[in-house]
Amino acid sequence: MSKRFYLTTAIDYVNGQPHLGHAYEKIITDVIARARRALGEEVFFLTGLDEHGQKVQQAAHAESKTPQAYCDELAVSWKSFAAKLSLTNDDFVRTTEPRHQEVVQAILTKLHASGHFYKTEYKGFYSTKEETFLTDKDRRPDGTFDPSFGEVIELIEENFNFRLNAHQAWLIDYIESNPGFISPAHRRNEILGFLKNNTLEDLCITRPASRLNWGIPLPFDPNFVTYVWFDALVNYISIPAAHGDPVVLAALGLPNSALRPPPSALPLWPADLHVIGKDISKFHAVYWPIMLKAMGLPLPKQLLVHGWWQKDGAKISKSTGNVVDPLAVIDEWGLDAFRFYVVRELDIGPDGNWTDAGFQSRYQAELANGLGNLINRSLSMLKRYRTGVVPLRSDELAADAQKFSQAAVECLQNCQLQTALEEIWKLVNRANQYVDQTAPFKLAKDPAQTARLDEVLYNLAEVCRVLAVLLAPFLPETSEKIYAQLGLGALSGKFEASAWGGLKTGHTIGEPAPLFPRKDQPK
Ligand code: MSP
Repeated sequence: MSKRFYLTTAIDYVNGQPHLGHAYEKIITDVIARARRALGEEVFFLTGLDEHGQKVQQAAHAESKTPQAYCDELAVSWKSFAAKLSLTNDDFVRTTEPRHQEVVQAILTKLHASGHFYKTEYKGFYSTKEETFLTDKDRRPDGTFDPSFGEVIELIEENFNFRLNAHQAWLIDYIESNPGFISPAHRRNEILGFLKNNTLEDLCITRPASRLNWGIPLPFDPNFVTYVWFDALVNYISIPAAHGDPVVLAALGLPNSALRPPPSALPLWPADLHVIGKDISKFHAVYWPIMLKAMGLPLPKQLLVHGWWQKDGAKISKSTGNVVDPLAVIDEWGLDAFRFYVVRELDIGPDGNWTDAGFQSRYQAELANGLGNLINRSLSMLKRYRTGVVPLRSDELAADAQKFSQAAVECLQNCQLQTALEEIWKLVNRANQYVDQTAPFKLAKDPAQTARLDEVLYNLAEVCRVLAVLLAPFLPETSEKIYAQLGLGALSGKFEASAWGGLKTGHTIGEPAPLFPRKDQPK
């Protein structure tokens, strides 16, 4: 192992409200992080907040707060949101932190010195809401700008631009010769289509401090602050730098100062995975690789682009009230039910649709009646018929367990989370079918069937254990509960533990208890 598996989420705008979309991205990234650890890799998982820009400045002003005080307050609730989702992130970045700003400024200094920027006057239209300059291409046929741009103002101002044109050819080449760089494939094709059919316009990377001061000052011109996207993307390397990553420190000429921990742990950069939503693929697949190339840093290995959630077939929107409040769902149904639904319902790529009925139906069918019922009846029968003592080992379900475990683990290696759950549920269903076929409750009534009942009870208890190991990345609380009910203490956290035969004859299990209480009256 020469580096840690380094994966990131997008960093959320601090002024937004945590919603289903944010929760989804964080959960899928967390499942991948947990799965990689279970595969034996060292992992570094980063998430955090994007805190600069005009919207934050305006929102703070409207509440008569300084932007920093405003961000500090909101950061508390975003961090508690991450904790509520049981994310196993190794760090949490805020773009207002000195450790981040220092790296942004080092990059700006380096790229300026090597001639990547030039100053120019801009005259035209600007959307504050999107913090972006508009061109005639953004106009609708009637000449107006789309209402999604919010208020559009006319501007004349000087700014620094980043020369992008020279980068177009190698980037196309890179994306074509590294087919795994942008996943899924149709997102790669979209980016390639964009690059091949347009001339890349230079990127404006500053805003005049007179108009917007809530940003990172340009180190070589105090009249400007850094454009929020240039600032935000850098989080993916500023945190490795803060952790002493030698590749990043060397490229930026940053000293490994006393502020940074000694680089004892394995390096991080290049990132293995940036998990992002489809709306920000251009920033990550075009601007970010160009920034890295200009800095002399290797590119991330993969951009994993997920789709967007809707609710009841319509856009999620606070103003229309069409929202799913993840915290309310978790309070009512439990964290694991929420994590399960979002991963099981939506594959990484297409758009998804949340319906309360769909959520409740998966809860009943797959969690309560499928997994929960299997664990509860298996362990209850072992308790009732064998006082909870594990009988002689039997391997009747070993081949099935191995087949489905292997398939699930292979899916997890490829970030196919939905399919991994489908494989795991094949084992759940096989074991429930085994209960029906072997009918242990009948065997228990026949003294001549003692040995057969032992076999059945062993197979069921061991399948429960194997399932706990496989489900740990998805349903961490449930896995721990299953292990506790089996009287096994903490999970090792490694997939190796799913090998058949882990339960030892003579071991006494703990107390069975329902994992997913039935809610027979859908609300
Ligand atoms: N701050 C930028 C990202 C900077 S990354 C260097 C941003 N923030 S955001 O808060 O608007 O979005 C954060 C992530 O949430 C993005 O990946 C975005 O695609 C995702 N989602 C926001 N709404 C979503 C849905 N309705 N569904 C799924 N994901 C969505 O963009």
